[in-house]
Amino acid sequence: MNDISQTQFVAIRDVELAFIDAGEGPVMLFLHGFPFDKSMWDGQIKALSAAGFRAVVPDLRGLGETKAAGEISTMDDMARDAAALLDHLQIDEAIVCGLSMGGYVAFEFAHLFPSRVRGLVLSGTRAPADNEQEKAGREQQVQTMLRAGMVPISIATLPKLLAERTRADKPDVVKRVRTMITLSNPKGAAAAQRGMTARRDYTEDLTNTNVPTLIIVGREDPIRPVSDAEFMHERIRNSRLEIIEDAAHMTNLEQPEVFSDALVSFLNELTH
Ligand code: MLT
Repeated sequence: MNDISQTQFVAIRDVELAFIDAGEGPVMLFLHGFPFDKSMWDGQIKALSAAGFRAVVPDLRGLGETKAAGEISTMDDMARDAAALLDHLQIDEAIVCGLSMGGYVAFEFAHLFPSRVRGLVLSGTRAPADNEQEKAGREQQVQTMLRAGMVPISIATLPKLLAERTRADKPDVVKRVRTMITLSNPKGAAAAQRGMTARRDYTEDLTNTNVPTLIIVGREDPIRPVSDAEFMHERIRNSRLEIIEDAAHMTNLEQPEVFSDALVSFLNELTH
């Protein structure tokens, strides 16, 4: 259970869910972004284990080692899978941390299971739903994935996912992100992309959020810019905003120490 590399599997709802369960103590549920997988949280899992916390980290359906169950994987599906995983592990409540798509899943999780959420971390995400142009862009990406696989997606998105400085100075991070994207299953990624297209507007959820919330954003994120984070911060009453310098969308990989320190401080405040 404490070996960070040890992936476990459990049959949950209509999928065989891959996950990592590492460390001991109050639980943080990590929800990865798109089209990534649970390995993006390795640095945070190590940092939390060392600080006396437990990390539960699923591969959301269609990504990593969890297969999709159909042509669309909704945010609701993914949130229900995560809750079923907590049931399986006999965990009542968690602090829920989502990045980007994982943030949409965190909103859905908090909406469906409010009593199970002790705190929220929303990173590189946003509350409003997509407009028609954004929805059309997602459908175009789905067609590209299904026709040509994930390489064109990695070529098109890497410059937006990582800050200029990361791309110049951290080739290992560039490689990790590229590898996660290119190893994603195109059908699974397409199902998740369709799920994001169909997601609802979470703006009203913001004012209903009563748990302590940490909002994290990369100063240079062109995908979910600082203004999206400020929008959430203005509406979630018990929230704090952390802007990470020299990072774009993949804040936890680009500046892992800064990100993990912010998580551990937040967890310590919430649980001690
Ligand atoms: C992500 O990183 O999860 C995606 O950029 C989210 C999105 O496309 O809205």
